[in-house]
Amino acid sequence: MDFTVSVLLATFILSVLALFVFIASMAKGLFGSGGAAALQIFDADEVGTVEDPAATPAQRGSLQKAMDPAHAAQRRTAQEVATRLRADQSSSLVVGVCLTMAVIWLVLASLAGLVSSIKLHAPDWWVSEAWLTFGRIRPIHLNLVGYGWCSMAGIGVAIWLIPRLLKTELVGAKYALVGGALWSVGVVAGTVAIAAGHSDGLEWLEYPWQIDILLVIGGALVGFPLWLTLLRRKVEHLYVSVWYIAAGFLWFPVLFLIANWPGLHFGVQQATMNWWYGHNVLGLWFTPLALAASYYFIPKVIGKPIHSYNLSLLGFWSLAFFYSQVGGHHLIGGPVPSWLITISIVQSMMMVVPVVAVAINQHLTVAGNFRALLYSPTLRFIVLGAMMYTAASVQGSLQALRAVNTVTHFTHYTVAHAHLGLYGFFTMIMFGSIYFVMPRVMKWEWPYPWMISAHFWLVLVGFGIYFIGLSFGGWYQGLAMLDKDIPFMQSVLLTIPYLQARTVGGAVMTLGHLVFAAHFFMMGWKFGPQRLGAALLAPPPATAPPGLVMAKAVL
Ligand code: HEM
Ligand code: HEM
Repeated sequence: MDFTVSVLLATFILSVLALFVFIASMAKGLFGSGGAAALQIFDADEVGTVEDPAATPAQRGSLQKAMDPAHAAQRRTAQEVATRLRADQSSSLVVGVCLTMAVIWLVLASLAGLVSSIKLHAPDWWVSEAWLTFGRIRPIHLNLVGYGWCSMAGIGVAIWLIPRLLKTELVGAKYALVGGALWSVGVVAGTVAIAAGHSDGLEWLEYPWQIDILLVIGGALVGFPLWLTLLRRKVEHLYVSVWYIAAGFLWFPVLFLIANWPGLHFGVQQATMNWWYGHNVLGLWFTPLALAASYYFIPKVIGKPIHSYNLSLLGFWSLAFFYSQVGGHHLIGGPVPSWLITISIVQSMMMVVPVVAVAINQHLTVAGNFRALLYSPTLRFIVLGAMMYTAASVQGSLQALRAVNTVTHFTHYTVAHAHLGLYGFFTMIMFGSIYFVMPRVMKWEWPYPWMISAHFWLVLVGFGIYFIGLSFGGWYQGLAMLDKDIPFMQSVLLTIPYLQARTVGGAVMTLGHLVFAAHFFMMGWKFGPQRLGAALLAPPPATAPPGLVMAKAVL
């Protein structure tokens, strides 16, 4: 048994043991304060109270009276408000820069995705330029979404959350600023390199390793202030979102360095490492950042602590224990030891544990407040994203079974699943988070609620067309490829209407992104009307029941 394989087997055994140790420690109460810890994100008396630091104290007072007079007497102390304002202030420049870059990448990535999509059903379109051929524009799309949009948005939201969650000003913001700039230079250089035909040739690892150095240094400079802030924190307990963010910032550099180190892996081991990285970057980088955001914003917006704090810890630790071996399911049927694949399938099924923990917890937190989705942009995007997390993960676990993967592996079905995960789940949560964060960063509300509404419906409808069309098309394609009586060319031709549907859906999504970007930059320039309080999707009725009252305050 060679070294790579022994390490993988050892970590599997370790993760199973670790789960039992964790459950035993939880039963003994070693993880501390349980339900009380869920209140960590609220100041004294804040549960059920309006929170909008973007407004002046006088404005906040009148907002509270207008929203819920019963709670007007319970406003937070000036000191609590000041602490939070200072925390927000300390991170606002870095967060503003990271999120602005993210939005630019989102638009460029969507356009690259759209061009790739058209090329799959009209292969002769726009072939005069080498950089516009499918083999280059597709990895440009993938890397722009992965390292441009998703990473930058996730980093921006994480940097905003950490000072708030730790009630501590961000330490070393200038390092994070330089780090964000270096990371962006890396994304530009990587995109240009792929366009010019220089690629390392492994999916998710296409940027040449020389350019990866920029991302490594940039990422380290961004991570450094988060760790420093953690060390100087003013709170005792670490809220579950802090666990997710800190772990993500620990896991990602390890993954990125091992996978990109030149001359370390060859042949089948290189393929194994490629998918060890490929799936771990999803589960141990993007997923923790999005879950951290949802565990903060859902309770915060509703003004109600998370349903079961212990369940949230179980979700975190089971993700940590089981995810690292999942990547092998990308190589089912490949020339890899079959027990390695079997372990990855077992781990894929075990992912049901963290997924169900998150699903139950977040659903029961929102339960009773679903009408708030009518009003709050943040809640609407994030609750939808959280539901898609469950859907993508359950679909993923089934897709990892050999019987299903035999049909889906070389088909567009996988691409539909990929977008359900990274778009339906991650991107939706980032949209919701940005709607909450940016007014605090800019001290200016979103000027036009109708643009938020247009953004929501365009991306939802566009994504619906994309996902449903491609899932059916991919499944039929897989069945046709397995049928010995059907010529291969027919399995290609039958996908054309579904690929055209994907282009329509993708174009609608891209339009939604353009609306979002336009609104984002309007806010950046403080264009449009100045509003008192939150920009809501619909005006709440005058006599709102308690659940609605909080939605109205959403902040
Ligand atoms: C946790 C449960 C999950 C499991 C067990 C799972 C399983 C799978 C499987 C079996 C594949 C297809 C492999 C193949 O046939 O080539 C796949 C692909 C993919 N999944 Fe998941 N998935 C899960 C959750 C997620 C989530 C939450 C995301 C997004 C954050 C995601 C994003 C993707 C992407 C992007 C791909 C395509 C990768 C590529 O080819 O570049 N998955 N997943
Ligand atoms: C934030 C938005 C988006 C994210 C996060 C995203 C993510 C991804 C990911 C992870 C893949 C790799 C899938 C795989 O290998 O299985 C991919 C491929 C692709 N995406 Fe996107 N995407 C986004 C938007 C779009 C849009 C708007 C379109 C327009 C139609 C699009 C079209 C494509 C195409 C054509 C591919 C290549 C599929 C193939 O190789 O068969 N994507 N995208």
